[in-house]
Amino acid sequence: MIIVIIGAQWGDEGKGKVVDLLADRFDVVSRYQGGHNAGHSVYVGDKSFVLRLLPSGIIHPDKTCVLGNGMVIDPKAFFEEVDQIAEQGVSVSPERLKVSSRAHLIMPYHRALDHTSEERLGNEKIGTTLRGIGPAYEDKAGRRGIRVADALSPELLKLRVERNLEEANRIIVLFGNQPLRANEILEEVSPLVERLRPFVCETSKFLADARRSGKKILLEGAQATLLDVDHGTYPYVTSSNPTAGGASVGAGIPPHHITGVLGIVRTYATRVGEGPFPTEMLDEEESIAHLIRERGNEYGSVTRRPRRCGWFDAVSTRYAAELNGFDSIALTKLDVLDELDEIKVCIGYEANGQRIDTFPAVSHDLRAIKAIYQTLPGWKTDTVGTTEFDKLPENAQKYVRFLSEQVGVEIGLISTGPERDQTIVLKNSVMEKWFSV
Ligand code: IMP
Repeated sequence: MIIVIIGAQWGDEGKGKVVDLLADRFDVVSRYQGGHNAGHSVYVGDKSFVLRLLPSGIIHPDKTCVLGNGMVIDPKAFFEEVDQIAEQGVSVSPERLKVSSRAHLIMPYHRALDHTSEERLGNEKIGTTLRGIGPAYEDKAGRRGIRVADALSPELLKLRVERNLEEANRIIVLFGNQPLRANEILEEVSPLVERLRPFVCETSKFLADARRSGKKILLEGAQATLLDVDHGTYPYVTSSNPTAGGASVGAGIPPHHITGVLGIVRTYATRVGEGPFPTEMLDEEESIAHLIRERGNEYGSVTRRPRRCGWFDAVSTRYAAELNGFDSIALTKLDVLDELDEIKVCIGYEANGQRIDTFPAVSHDLRAIKAIYQTLPGWKTDTVGTTEFDKLPENAQKYVRFLSEQVGVEIGLISTGPERDQTIVLKNSVMEKWFSV
């Protein structure tokens, strides 16, 4: 069994908790795209873990985790995270963490280029995480990237760093920044690559063998559907494919071996960085955004940037459901809305007086869009920690059913707090089946 987990919105939907919950029932958890731009928070008892590069399954000592070929890996960030969670009592050995030999490395000049590119864009900037993600994927597509397998050869690593740096420095210097030195980069990166060596393997072969021997595999998407470089709000996107098709490419798994796709959807929407956001709470709704930000701790887990908050957008979530083929949805952060008198749900868009029900391709169109809302009554009752659907206040049940009808996919799980046991699994849902494997 192979299940893909993907965020339906602009990220931070609460994937970490859901992956952590499902990981108990699975044997292998693999990431397939992105790098340490992700930030998953997982709470276990009184411990909290922030995972950037490593799959959320890593905190389960009996699970094997994989960083797939579609990822970009900063070796410094990799070991910072490994050492950090080791300090928290989770040991990470090469037996339970596999890094693809085909994944690309993020080099110090990628970080510098990310900064330069954002400075150069000025008001038009993307608002990236400045981790070097975009420039590393540019090198990959430009066929000059450094793959993990290449870096394991010191001669090849030196050659590639020197050649790539020449080009990178031209841009860095042109925009008034200090050039980087190849010998300093090699001094930083070479020992890290040596330390990485025992973790490196042919991960697609590892995953194929695991599947053949009956192991259950979770493919954990980072970022989310609307940040997908093909399907998201381009150019305000990340540089990889979080959508379900990307899971097949980025983990090296044939599409027909994927059993199901789980969408993670929050009861409201957020976005970090720039870019269009049709349901953003602005002006007189800023106080609601503030309440949600505080109750939902809507601050970037990597960058601590305050997240922009908005109402649930059924148009973009329907789009995400169709693109990814969601079989079930995990709805997170229901409790965050507990205090609201009324809750708005965007059920359609309007542009130039015309109603549109599809998600436009052009980002500037999205800026001109007016969201059409349906307003539902709030429930004004504490739902934190509720574990049965029937125990939710009636208006909360109605809200959940309304979202499911609007998106056209079952809601199989509802999260009512950050802890593992603050969860409702809906009876007779696809999700319940996945939970009982
Ligand atoms: P990059 O991935 O650092 O290139 O950033 C591109 C866009 O994706 C920016 O708007 C980031 O804020 C956003 N982004 C990247 N990773 C995440 C994430 O894990 N959660 C939410 N937004 C993200």
